[in-house]
Amino acid sequence: MTDYRELCSQLEGFAAEEGGYVPLLSNASALLFLTMEKINWAGFYLTGKGERKDTLILGPFQGKPACIRIPYGKGVCGTAAESGRVQRVPDVHAFPGHIACDCDSRSEIVIPILRNGHVVGVLDIDSPVEDRFSEEDEKGLGAFVRVLEQYICFD
Ligand code: SME
Repeated sequence: MTDYRELCSQLEGFAAEEGGYVPLLSNASALLFLTMEKINWAGFYLTGKGERKDTLILGPFQGKPACIRIPYGKGVCGTAAESGRVQRVPDVHAFPGHIACDCDSRSEIVIPILRNGHVVGVLDIDSPVEDRFSEEDEKGLGAFVRVLEQYICFD
């Protein structure tokens, strides 16, 4: 079981030193990828600016190369971004419109990142194991994202 308290405190350490989104999200994805068991992808998609504000664009991640753009409303990530709600998907093959970036993925959790009430991106974690993510993971990863929300800087 992942020690989310420890993960959050390590993340706070990085965040307090540097809130810029590239270093912060890079270290955040590395922390998750190294710490969590049975996962094959951990990373971020960020909401585009201007004409691309309804599109998620690939951000820092660990895992196989992934699709670069995801329209709001499409796949698990786009659904989380459009609704502002966590998507915990036990079987990605049963999710309508799931985007298969890595054919090893069987289950997935996506947590929206909010700034001033708006979705600015999502945390996406994939697993090769069906039904990998529990309610406890959802809570722990929610706390992890709350730390990011406090510190992240896009300027
Ligand atoms: N499977 C995701 C796409 C992103 S990859 O998993 C990295 C989706 O359906 O949104």
